[in-house]
Amino acid sequence: MHEPDAAIGALRERLAQAASVCVLTGAGMSAESGIPTFRDALTGLWSRFDPAQLASEAGFRADPALVWDWYAERRAGVLAAEPNPGHRALADFARRRPGVLTVVTQNVDDLHQRAGNRRAIRLHGDILRDRWLESCPRDCDPAQATPGRPPRCADCGNLLRPGVVWFGEMLPAGALEAAEVAARGCDVMLVVGTSGAVWPAAGLAALARRAGAYVAILNPADSEIDADAHLCLRGTAATLLPGLLG
Ligand code: APR
Repeated sequence: MHEPDAAIGALRERLAQAASVCVLTGAGMSAESGIPTFRDALTGLWSRFDPAQLASEAGFRADPALVWDWYAERRAGVLAAEPNPGHRALADFARRRPGVLTVVTQNVDDLHQRAGNRRAIRLHGDILRDRWLESCPRDCDPAQATPGRPPRCADCGNLLRPGVVWFGEMLPAGALEAAEVAARGCDVMLVVGTSGAVWPAAGLAALARRAGAYVAILNPADSEIDADAHLCLRGTAATLLPGLLG
């Protein structure tokens, strides 16, 4: 048996025995569904912008139409995409072993949910759900906004913004706490398709390891948190996960 095959076999066994598994996913998880990673999305028309301009409140306030258009394009990509065999392997595992798996995702698409993992913890929000830029004192329904780029409230002019977490913003209430509970309590953590560059999500692997979990990274390239893992498997989400969890 080759070295990687042996490592995969041992990890497969750990996963089969684990009472609790936490899987942290990033943009690479959805790459094989045709959704470009954040950095890959900044190509073509968008290559002259930097992430802070397109993914920050200041950037949105400076040019709401530009940022709205960028998210509209990404949203259309999400709606056109389908879960890949990696998402489906996680959902099948959850169905077969109820109560064992917690998925924690940095992705703003809904592919884990559509594959069947409805309770995935979403650290960075949901690109398909808009919210008001300013908090609305009357609790108006964003669906009632007047169409535009971006849509706005006909009464007060409040703008809609994508329901994602931008750089410098707080994570959705309770999401990080729930993810930390899952990381601390798991026997095995898989870290799939993340560069490990964005905090606090990137800290979950080290947290799990300190609490005694076995940590494996699945990524075709190096990540910034490789040193936090016991094992780094160089491969893609859609090719590795079905073999590990099947
Ligand atoms: N399978 C697994 N991993 C992959 C694949 C694949 N098919 N293709 C690419 N990758 C890996 C890349 O090697 C890289 O390490 O996915 C990672 C993508 O990195 P990023 O684009 O930085 O995505 P992510 O780590 O999720 O970014 C975190 O930053 O952009 C913000 O809020 C956004 O949630 C995002 C956060």
